[in-house]
Amino acid sequence: MSTAVVEIDNVTKTFDSLTAVNAVSLKLHQGQTLGLIGPNGAGKTTLLRMVCSLAKPDSGDIRIQGDSVRSNPLGVRSRLGFMPAEFGSPRNLNILEYLDYFGCLYAIPRQARRQRIAEVCELTDLTGREDVMVKGLSTGNKQRLLLAKTLLHDPELLVLDEPASGLDPRARTELRVIVKALASLGKTIIISSHILPDIEDISDRIGIMEAGSLVLDGDLTELREGSGTAGNIVKIKVEDESTSVAMDLLKGLADVQSCENRDGTLVVSTQQPNGNFVLAEMLRHDIRVVQFAEDAPNLEEIFMRSTAGKVT
Ligand SMILES: Nc1ncnc2c1ncn2[C@@H]1O[C@H](COP(=O)(O)OP(=O)(O)OP(=O)(O)O)[C@@H](O)[C@H]1O
Ligand SMILES: [Mg+2]
Repeated sequence: MSTAVVEIDNVTKTFDSLTAVNAVSLKLHQGQTLGLIGPNGAGKTTLLRMVCSLAKPDSGDIRIQGDSVRSNPLGVRSRLGFMPAEFGSPRNLNILEYLDYFGCLYAIPRQARRQRIAEVCELTDLTGREDVMVKGLSTGNKQRLLLAKTLLHDPELLVLDEPASGLDPRARTELRVIVKALASLGKTIIISSHILPDIEDISDRIGIMEAGSLVLDGDLTELREGSGTAGNIVKIKVEDESTSVAMDLLKGLADVQSCENRDGTLVVSTQQPNGNFVLAEMLRHDIRVVQFAEDAPNLEEIFMRSTAGKVT
């Protein structure tokens, strides 16, 4: 087993009477990408800020490559790059000046800094735009620049808080490609997002948080098992006039966990790996089936199943 880059050990954080992060533990190994998802207010940002030593746990500890956020926050910070959800940095600079400013903060010597800035611009596709002013950048380019800044000191761990927020579909795809490229360079990555298909695509592991707790954690197969979606999703379309009858029949079956009508297609979540019993029920009642398909539940279905919409 490779070494754990991140070890989160029973961490809790409260704000007055609110428990923002509640006894969360997890380990992340070198080269892994962890996708962190959860409803608004679930505690993702608070957890990420604690990982980066920017907020202190009330109890528990977090170690980054063995360094504790409690006893060695400066050691922790040198090992990771944090991309915050909001661009709160100086804007009255051009891209080169901005990166140089942060390079100075990271104490990268001048010669190495120039070289490193060129490299991070290349990685984030900013090469050739070095003299563009930060304050005029589009959201997409701002996010690239934030990511470039995060990479400057070549950290082992990248902590990206909603890097895709506000991006158009093309910029999102490009960001996905960059994150995957960074993972293939061996970086360990924690990324939070509300864009579940992206998280499904780029993560080796996914953590689902709700109301401060880590409710599920694992790869997609483990999440399916943990959320009770180890069975199948059956998508069935019957002739229009029979849709509501079919829905009532399906809801009455013991192996059907849920059945919802999405634009005329019944999406049935079942306990059984084989969805033929759904088809059989329709045929038994002489309901004409127009379309029938089976799917393993995707992350969105797992998410909907495992979170109850609790808010903090
Ligand atoms: N500095 C703070 N003071 C008081 N409450 C806070 C503070 N920071 C966060 N909270 C509260 O802690 C809870 C968790 O917030 P957090 O920002 O970690 O959630 P999140 O999962 O990142 O949500 P989102 O998806 O909206 O970004 C929320 O109820 C939030 O209001
Ligand atoms: Mg957040």
